Amino acid sequence: MTNSFIPPRRTLMGPGPSDVSPRVLAAMARPTIGHLDPEFVRMMDEVKAMLQNAFRTRNAMTMPVSAPGSAGMETCFVNLIEPGDKVIVCVNGVFGGRMKENVRRIGGEAVLVEDAWGAPVDPNKLDEALAQHKDAKIVAFVHAETSTGARSDAQTLCRIARHHDCLTIVDAVTSLGGVPLEVDAWGADAVYSGTQKCLSCPPGISPVTMSARAVEAIRKRNSPVQSWFLDLNLVMAYWGGEGARVYHHTAPVNALYGLHESLVMLEEEGLENSWTRHAHEHAALRAGVEAMGLHFFVDERARLPQLNSIVVPEGVVEADVRRALLNEFDLEIGAGLGALAGKVWRVGLMGQSACRRNVLYFLSAMEAILGCSGAVAAARVAA
Ligand SMILES: Cc1ncc(COP(=O)(O)O)c(C=O)c1O
Repeated sequence: MTNSFIPPRRTLMGPGPSDVSPRVLAAMARPTIGHLDPEFVRMMDEVKAMLQNAFRTRNAMTMPVSAPGSAGMETCFVNLIEPGDKVIVCVNGVFGGRMKENVRRIGGEAVLVEDAWGAPVDPNKLDEALAQHKDAKIVAFVHAETSTGARSDAQTLCRIARHHDCLTIVDAVTSLGGVPLEVDAWGADAVYSGTQKCLSCPPGISPVTMSARAVEAIRKRNSPVQSWFLDLNLVMAYWGGEGARVYHHTAPVNALYGLHESLVMLEEEGLENSWTRHAHEHAALRAGVEAMGLHFFVDERARLPQLNSIVVPEGVVEADVRRALLNEFDLEIGAGLGALAGKVWRVGLMGQSACRRNVLYFLSAMEAILGCSGAVAAARVAA
């Protein structure tokens, strides 16, 4: 007979999921009720209102999509893009590449604005691309590129896109709750996120918000949205503003209890305090990492506090260190993706994981592991 699954206790300092508070886990263990129960509907309204606060928006179309961040991404792309549409896609890492793939599969034309991995999106290049492609309808970019740890200037990119009369699709999976994100003030149109990063929920839900301009564009479509499940016209009849909720799909009831609790915790802390905490814990991590003679992959000006790519020193086998952290310290960090595989470690300070205890635990574990291999001493001498 198969036994119950009891997961090991880990400290999560990778690119997500982050550590989940016992409060969120306890909320998720509460009794399941019907997804059209008036009490559940009341809770849904609170989730929507708290998401509006977290996104800093008054957008009526703000809701959690019942699937992970990739589904939030697809929701924005399939609703706003029709076959033949031209889309400027900014690519400076893995997730920009996925945006391009979304456009291709919808039958749109993706024009790429490419920057080096680890660099932010260059606003001048975007401006030039828009000047060259006056028929472009959408600009898509990643605010916080989790594959590298680079933050792009979302405010400037949105301003340029609007100047050229384009709508924006902004990936805020890793930025929401961790660094400033001002959906209304910056004029971002379609923004999606994930629960498992700086909101510190288990994975599986994707908060999405759409401006009135984006909603209008969806209403004016010539062709139906390719995906039935992600068609916002239908989803909103369930999550919608006024009137009775219409069954669309069975919402992940207990997962939404978890999101509700994590948003309550964010409100208790204060959104700006959460941004400040992420910045402070990053500064503490940086001091320790640099004292070990190690280096960050991303230039300080574009560095995300919640995702720290650290260059693997010469002579050290990247995977061996991650394995030792997991096996000896129950501590998870991330590997480099794509071109950065084997070259960097990705250390997350997201949500509940952005705390002094975790920073000190990581530094002492790294010191122990790298010290044994002689790499810390070598790096210090080299520095
Ligand atoms: C920037 C970014 N976009 C999209 C995704 C996809 O989210 P999910 O893995 O929840 O589908 C991720 C996941 O790490 C991400 O970091």
